[in-house]
Amino acid sequence: MKPGKLVTKAVIPAAGLGTRFLPATKAMPKEMLPVVDQPAIQYVVEEAVRAGLTDLLMITGRQKRALEDHFDREPNLERTLEDKGDLDHLEAVQHASDLGPLHFVRQGEPKGLGHAVLCARQHVGDEPFAVLLGDDLIDERDELLSTMIEVQSRTGGSVVALIEVEPAQISAYGCADVTAIDGENYVRVNGLVEKPSVADAPSNLAVIGRYVLHPAVFDILERTQPGRGGEIQLTDALQTLAMSDGEGGGVYGVVFEGRRYDTGDKLSYLKAVISLASERVEFGEELKSWLKAFIN
Ligand code: G1P
Repeated sequence: MKPGKLVTKAVIPAAGLGTRFLPATKAMPKEMLPVVDQPAIQYVVEEAVRAGLTDLLMITGRQKRALEDHFDREPNLERTLEDKGDLDHLEAVQHASDLGPLHFVRQGEPKGLGHAVLCARQHVGDEPFAVLLGDDLIDERDELLSTMIEVQSRTGGSVVALIEVEPAQISAYGCADVTAIDGENYVRVNGLVEKPSVADAPSNLAVIGRYVLHPAVFDILERTQPGRGGEIQLTDALQTLAMSDGEGGGVYGVVFEGRRYDTGDKLSYLKAVISLASERVEFGEELKSWLKAFIN
């Protein structure tokens, strides 16, 4: 890879089965679950676009056609809204298709996140790229991805996003062993473990769903054997990169202290919807006073 290549590509894995939300996700992708009035996945696509990424690739699977439709034009609906003079909804509908163009590739079998990222290889080629997981929403007022892109270009390695969690929660995440670097806004990652038990966790720093990766990860993913849960884990490939001092070696972490909304399980999803709804100017205040009364 030529040094200093700009990050322009985003890979958005969206092939998961959504088992945790059944039966809601029996006939609908979990990424389409509404968070207030737009599907969760749209927040993620908007974040990528805000960070200046112009080439978006979604990794999908069977039963995910709604994702393609959502980000496509819908001329009949647009005409109906225009005829009715419903310009607000027209703008909202058009906004989703203006975010693109999006590209899609299917992951034929659910073989894990590492395998999903590997499905992007041909599209990404030999340049650093971002990966955004749909379960994590980052508040638009907080910078994360653009900081990670900057750290990737400064270090030439790969970058993960980390948050501090309660020790008991670490087994739901990839966990990083890190060393601080004097005067820098990032840390060096010495090692990573996928979903360790509390006893085995090297720290309480959890990997969240934002990565900026060196393309060297693809060769490593090709060789990565199934790990936790019998799946090819991105965390295991990053562990290999963290140990390597060859081209594209080295993994760094940006510790995020801003607002993150997890939509990965039912309770977190409900919290995310309420948090984001309470920020809305149209009804946020009314929602908050209703919530207070409801609790009492
Ligand atoms: C994936 C990764 C894990 C990471 C998490 C962040 O797990 O494998 O390392 O901490 O995303 O959301 P998943 O939540 O898909 O099981």
